Amino acid sequence: MRILLLCHAFNSLSQRVHAELRAAGHEVSVELDISDEVTSEAVALFKPDVLVAPFLKRKIPEAVFAEVPCLIVHPGPPGDRGPAALDWAVLEGEPEWGVSIIRATEELDGGPVLASRMFATRPARKSSLYRIEVTEGAVAALFEALARVERGEPGDPPPPGRWRDPVPPAARRIDWSTDKTATVLNKIRSADGFPGVIDEIAGREVRLFNAWTEPELTGEPGALLAHCHGAVCRATLDGAVWIGHLKESGERSFKRRATAVLGEAVADLPGRELDADPETGRGPIRYREFGAVGILDFDFYNGAMSTEDCRALLAAYEQATRRPTRVIVLAGGADFWSNGMDLNAIEAAASPPDESWDNIRAIDEVAEAVIRTTSHLTVSAIGGNAAAGGVFLALAADQVWARSGVVLNPHYKNMGNLYGSEYWTYLLPKRVGEGGIKAVMGHRLPMLAAEAEALGLIDRTGPNHRPDFDTFVLDQAARLAGDDFESRLAAKIERRERDEAERPLHDYRDAELERMRMNFYGFDPSYHVARFRLVRRSPHAWTPLYLAHHRARVGGK
Ligand code: COA
Repeated sequence: MRILLLCHAFNSLSQRVHAELRAAGHEVSVELDISDEVTSEAVALFKPDVLVAPFLKRKIPEAVFAEVPCLIVHPGPPGDRGPAALDWAVLEGEPEWGVSIIRATEELDGGPVLASRMFATRPARKSSLYRIEVTEGAVAALFEALARVERGEPGDPPPPGRWRDPVPPAARRIDWSTDKTATVLNKIRSADGFPGVIDEIAGREVRLFNAWTEPELTGEPGALLAHCHGAVCRATLDGAVWIGHLKESGERSFKRRATAVLGEAVADLPGRELDADPETGRGPIRYREFGAVGILDFDFYNGAMSTEDCRALLAAYEQATRRPTRVIVLAGGADFWSNGMDLNAIEAAASPPDESWDNIRAIDEVAEAVIRTTSHLTVSAIGGNAAAGGVFLALAADQVWARSGVVLNPHYKNMGNLYGSEYWTYLLPKRVGEGGIKAVMGHRLPMLAAEAEALGLIDRTGPNHRPDFDTFVLDQAARLAGDDFESRLAAKIERRERDEAERPLHDYRDAELERMRMNFYGFDPSYHVARFRLVRRSPHAWTPLYLAHHRARVGGK
């Protein structure tokens, strides 16, 4: 089919849908939802068989849905209507939720239902449920819906349901003197990643993001108790929560580390050390062992790895290499394995070029430690999406395995044509050959694990369901730690020595960093402009041609 994707932004769900539809052999083009005229123009140019809207904030114009079947992905079960479906589900602690494919009609979210999927919820951020459960359900339901459209079926009338407006701020305002930890977390998670619960800390109005439970500390409800790795701990009625990120009021503000926003106001709080223990751990890094396999989880908010994050990860990794295990699995986080440098922290720095420089070198240190590991075999187990430097960091491991549904963006092009580092000039040709480099780096589109495996970028594609993938990783890692371990390790050490003799590792890094220095400090501002726009989630003024094939064909903008 010829499928036009219409989306507010080419977000993670839109990227997944795009990659899945292409992999299934459909002809896919994308138009960002900029205005009714632009949408109508896209339909006239592309002449789609069907329009799919994975992420839309406005109604589709009548002239369009009258002409082409338009399928809306709604993150709620059949009958549910309104723009804040998941917010309400998380806030109200729904044990089960759903995603529906609805045909666009005059009535917003009120058209015939073509397919749906239900899923069990979990105590997680709204954005995490969206990136995992909603996304999986949406993809499965969308293929069913497309088959029904192809058969000419109109869909089923929606069951009786209700329209719900956006969650009013008062419904999730935290009362620190009476709210228990579970309530506080529910409120914050229901608005995370957007728009954030409005609160006041140290006399300043802020929005709260990235909250988790503190295992031990307690105090006067509402009191700030400690800080740790940029997060602040605040007492609830029956315990305490950590708040990792805040956003100040104002159009131009963006999410930053809580301590960076609060500054002097929290400078005197006692500091707590990061701890990777799965029971008592406080930060985003956890280390677990299963026999000869050590698993290092690093769940950095939005997959963004700041200079401090990279240093903490390096320390945890080095500690893992001192354990009497044989295989270390770099497991990343639930939603993202890694998205490379922390662009928000860079944007907020006094000198973004200097902070970029520190951040890229700190990621390189992690990559180098993994590449130079001679005590263990290493595996990158990509269970969450990865982009830019995050993908190349994964290649530093001996083996790279990915969950079949992850979306990879293995290029730096969309970040103002950054040259990139993380030793990609050493790691990538070994995997894809000189000829494959262009296919990976020159291509701006997201890809699924299977495509990455076909290119040679990763070694194996694992099951899509996350618990199955985790079992697969543990099972395969245990095999690596098995009988052939000694010979595999010896072969790896020999390979590395040969490579080092041919061209020292530092030589690759120096050459990459020389190019990155130009990106950060040079005369072309593309990277700074792209970062400014991504961090502030700036609206798009047009659809880039690499997405809008219908415009490329007619030589559009
Ligand atoms: N630093 C800081 N924040 C980042 C980030 C990074 N490197 N990568 C992603 N994010 C944030 C996004 O800003 C967004 O934030 P929000 O919660 O405030 O909306 C969130 O992570 C991801 O949102 P999602 O809707 O799932 O995906 P997306 O539309 O942003 O697309 C990416 C996902 C990864 C393709 C896109 O965010 C991207 O290109 N990121 C930059 C990657 C990069 O260039 N890294 C630096 C070079 S090493």
